Amino acid sequence: MARKKMKILVSAGPTREYIDPIRFISNPSSGKMGYLIAEYAKKIGHDVILVSGPTHLKPLEGVKLLKVETAKQMQNEILKNFPKVDILIMAAAVSDWKPYRKFKTKIKRKKQWLLKLVPNPDILKSVSKIKKENQKIVGFALETDNILKNAKKKLKEKKLDLIIGNTPNFFGEGKKSDVFFIFNDGKVLKFKIKKEELPPKIFEAIF
Ligand code: CTP
Repeated sequence: MARKKMKILVSAGPTREYIDPIRFISNPSSGKMGYLIAEYAKKIGHDVILVSGPTHLKPLEGVKLLKVETAKQMQNEILKNFPKVDILIMAAAVSDWKPYRKFKTKIKRKKQWLLKLVPNPDILKSVSKIKKENQKIVGFALETDNILKNAKKKLKEKKLDLIIGNTPNFFGEGKKSDVFFIFNDGKVLKFKIKKEELPPKIFEAIF
């Protein structure tokens, strides 16, 4: 059991950014990582709120589930709930862009056309502005190259306590791959683990 009962906010899954009422841009995140973290946090005795983008995963018993679709909705739920929690673990694969407008009706078939995208808010950056000294934030960094350098940059820019650097090899289940824990004091830990083995390592690292 953990030493002290904490309130943990976890985000999971992809976001959907709508082009029109039936089409959206998104990514293939299954939500599994965030759900595994939320499940483990509950199991070791914490109060858990899970903000989840669309997934096929079953709601977790005893975990408060807040379902969202877009990055903006995810940001709203996270900013609303963050002041009540001790730790935020941001495992969601937030879409970095959204269509510059959502068409009200279905766009009809046409020849080549350009879809203009505009940036979504960086949720972690907005949370860092309201972060209190006794709160901790854990982020993820998915990188295809220069994993340590890029993850360290994100740790600093998003004012995180810990960033977990991984590569697309970490996608899927049951496969071991290199995962880096980079702390805000410069410490780095490297593991070769499966997704399922990550949640206990996170809680060991932040307490
Ligand atoms: N994140 C976020 N808001 C966004 C995008 C990402 O809060 N709009 C969070 C993710 O949940 C993750 C961390 O920021 O915990 C890093 O996400 P990642 O996609 O690796 O990095 P980006 O900041 O989007 O940078 P880039 O895509 O340029 O690598």
